[in-house]
Amino acid sequence: MTATQTPVCIDPSPCSGCGTCIRVCPSDIISLKNQKARAAPDTDTARCLVCGHCKAACPENAIDIPALDPGLHDFSTFDLDPAWLPPGKGVLTSDLARLICSRRSCRNYNPTPVNKEMLQDLIHLAVFAPSGTNSQAWTFTCLTSRSEVLVLGNAIKDFFKRLNRKAENMILRKALALVGAGTLDHYYNNYYESVKTAIEQMETENRDRLFHGAPAVILIGSSPGASCPKEDALLAAGNILLAAHTMGLGTCLIGYVVAATEADRSIQQKLGIPDSETIHAAVALGYPDETFQRISGRKQPTIRFR
Ligand SMILES: Cc1cc2nc3c(=O)[nH]c(=O)nc-3n(C[C@H](O)[C@H](O)[C@H](O)COP(=O)(O)O)c2cc1C
Repeated sequence: MTATQTPVCIDPSPCSGCGTCIRVCPSDIISLKNQKARAAPDTDTARCLVCGHCKAACPENAIDIPALDPGLHDFSTFDLDPAWLPPGKGVLTSDLARLICSRRSCRNYNPTPVNKEMLQDLIHLAVFAPSGTNSQAWTFTCLTSRSEVLVLGNAIKDFFKRLNRKAENMILRKALALVGAGTLDHYYNNYYESVKTAIEQMETENRDRLFHGAPAVILIGSSPGASCPKEDALLAAGNILLAAHTMGLGTCLIGYVVAATEADRSIQQKLGIPDSETIHAAVALGYPDETFQRISGRKQPTIRFR
């Protein structure tokens, strides 16, 4: 390979000058010179998204993107057929639909731990999700034992205990609402009671109303610089939820973690997550202690065709 100064290394010998890489490049940084593709000499990672579309599309396999880690194609718990799957080929829509419709949030787990290889493979699949401007600024923090999960669970519970105490103060709620900060009043009207009950059950019955007894949690965060960090995190989470189902794992997104860690930055410090990161999704995982029997329906969505 002939290295250029750009993140895109195009080997001129096999390049046939077909222009495929030019058509697929979202940043318009590749052009033809003497019937050979070349990346603009001033291209840096600010201009090149490092998305790898040119590498993926080149019929001559003449392009290398050194920043892309081929190790992420290696999975420990299953074999990946690395052959490109063209649209409409290879996977039946009905099989995918069955997977999508059969994934359900799991709220009862057995205590069997989830091994690290599985978590690692799920994360490797997560990062194949799209990300805004291909930032790929995901961070994944895995809690791999019940004791780790409980450290987070107790910190979240303490946060909501403090929030409930604040929300019980009607004068404070109304005063805040008067100055346009109605969040506490909204919380009181919509969540206070159920959170209070959950905290009581956690403390008196030892029931894990937050993580539902899950032996593992993946926290998906972002490091600084991502353009759409929340969306990126939820898309990555979507991959994890579906893939986990194929591996025999149950999952559940836990929104309370996101709300608490956003409001109280000290919680993530307890887990050794740097202050510069923000948590956008928490996925509880484990082997399900419940067996759904059938695909149930969904509410009717609003759909428009124009
Ligand atoms: C952003 C988000 C946050 C959620 N937070 C929680 C949560 O804190 N606790 C919980 O038990 N379920 C949580 N869920 C799961 C939803 O309740 C669940 O997806 C919904 O009821 C539909 O059920 P299904 O996932 O089985 O299809 C969350 C889901 C989403 C998308």
